[in-house]
Amino acid sequence: MHTSRVFTRWLIRAVHSFKQARNYSEGLVYAKYGTPEDVLELQEVQIPSVGRDDVKVKVIAAPVNPSDVNVIQGTYPLSPRLPAFGGNEVVGMVTEVGSTITSLKLGDHVIAAQPGIGTWRDTIVCHYDKWLRVPSQLPIQLAATLMVNPATAYRMMSDFVQLEEGDTIIQNGANSGVGQAVIQLAASRNINTINIIRDRPNIDEIKHYLDDLGATVVITEEENSKRDIRSIYECYKSAKLGLNTVGGDSATNLMRQLQQQAVMVTYGGMSRKPVMLPTGSLIFKEIKFVGYWNAKWIERNKNSGPYHQMYDDLIRLGVEGKLKPPKCTEHLLQNYKTALSQAMTSFAGSKQLFVLN
Ligand SMILES: NC(=O)c1ccc[n+]([C@@H]2O[C@H](COP(=O)([O-])OP(=O)(O)OC[C@H]3O[C@@H](n4cnc5c(N)ncnc54)[C@H](OP(=O)(O)O)[C@@H]3O)[C@@H](O)[C@H]2O)c1
Repeated sequence: MHTSRVFTRWLIRAVHSFKQARNYSEGLVYAKYGTPEDVLELQEVQIPSVGRDDVKVKVIAAPVNPSDVNVIQGTYPLSPRLPAFGGNEVVGMVTEVGSTITSLKLGDHVIAAQPGIGTWRDTIVCHYDKWLRVPSQLPIQLAATLMVNPATAYRMMSDFVQLEEGDTIIQNGANSGVGQAVIQLAASRNINTINIIRDRPNIDEIKHYLDDLGATVVITEEENSKRDIRSIYECYKSAKLGLNTVGGDSATNLMRQLQQQAVMVTYGGMSRKPVMLPTGSLIFKEIKFVGYWNAKWIERNKNSGPYHQMYDDLIRLGVEGKLKPPKCTEHLLQNYKTALSQAMTSFAGSKQLFVLN
């Protein structure tokens, strides 16, 4: 790491320790909805005292997801009461527990058990039920990004069709955090993935990267729009499951590749274009077209058997090295304007991650 960056980090930690001693923490707060770089402010906030059912967590890392940006823009269906801290995912370390808490202890690594905590800050005090313990061997970048994207991939691969070895999934936005998790979860179960990405100058680099994660085939949107595309992957079964995070023509072309009675799950709308479905696919191929929202699934299923089974499976794969985080670009909280503007850039190539401790 560059010497000046090391010094900056050291300085920030020193200031952080000084503030903690005064019982203050720093975080990114917004008091109105709007463009994140305009409405977010780095503020000093008094740390609340730890109640009997509370846990105090020193934040280690917290990512910037597309939905975090949409929440701050006021365009997401979840709108926190303002002022609020930005961010939903986090990994941190327990530094204090309330008098009733036996399930967590000092030094434990934890991730947010649900969205809505407000994670872009150095210290969080909240009810113990909002935390999920993870092993300290789980890589930090993966722990910080586990709650939303890998969980979304896992659920979409579990809840809509029965996938067996040798089956095929087709997905667009395949280089997204969710897409990368789909590739790896599928590879761990010997399920094929046909992965569609947007063309770009460094397309071969991305293709190799996804190949290394376990992708079966990686093709561009342009290639997938051609009618004879099946020749590229005709040795694999037609797709039983389609995953759409783009919309527009990309979704229409993806749907054409599905087999009889397949399911297409829409979980994002990155192109901001509506989904147009070929009528014939719905009628004659009996395709089912559904949506998935992870926040709602967690709200309905938190602490259920399937919830714990899912995180146990994801954590095990992470510890075994079979599930890796997306490439991350690390930022200090102070550099939030750069982090947010990169998070909103097309072809960013990495997930923006605040690293605090
Ligand atoms: N429904 C749910 O519960 C749920 C859960 C998790 C995520 N999501 C959604 O899934 C999507 C991906 O999230 P993530 O965190 O995995 O994303 P990410 O890692 O930040 O990656 C963003 C992805 O979106 C693509 N993209 C950006 N602008 C685009 C455009 N105009 N047209 C087509 N693709 C575009 C990027 O492709 P390029 O590299 O080509 O720019 C990249 O693949 C987001 O819409 C997010 O809100 C939904």
